[in-house]
Amino acid sequence: MRIHHVGVAVAAIDEVLDDYVALGYTVGTRVVDDERRVEIAFVRNGDYVIELVAPAAADSPVDGLLKKVGPSPYHLCYVVDDIAVAVRELRSAGYVRITAPSPAPAIGYAAVAFLHHRRVGLIELVELAGPDQGVVV
Ligand code: NI
Repeated sequence: MRIHHVGVAVAAIDEVLDDYVALGYTVGTRVVDDERRVEIAFVRNGDYVIELVAPAAADSPVDGLLKKVGPSPYHLCYVVDDIAVAVRELRSAGYVRITAPSPAPAIGYAAVAFLHHRRVGLIELVELAGPDQGVVV
C-alpha cells in the first residue's frame, strides 16, 4: 500500500511550522478537526508528506503520546482503494479497528480509519475519491 503521510504529534502547530520550513518543508492544508479534537497541518518535502497533529481541545487523541514521549511520529497512513474491504482484511490479519471509517476534513473529507496491530503499531487508511482529493501542498 502506498504511504499517504506520516502523522507526527506536536504540542502546537503555530510553534512548530517555522521549524519544518527551516528543514525544507512547504506548508499546505491546515484545519481544525473539531470531531477529532486536533489541529492538523500538512507539510511536504519532495515526495514526503508529514501530517502535524496538535491538541485542539481537552482529551485530544495525542495528549497521552505528547505527555509520555513528547513530539513524535505515531502513525503511517496508507492509501487504499476500498476502505471497508481493507479494514475487513486487516482485521482478519490481526489488526484491531480503533476508529470506523469517517470523513477527514484535513484530506478533503476522504474516508479515514485507524487500526492497531500489536507488532506493527498504529496505522491509518485513507480512501481517496480521486487524484485531486488529499492534495495537500
Ligand atoms: Ni494521519
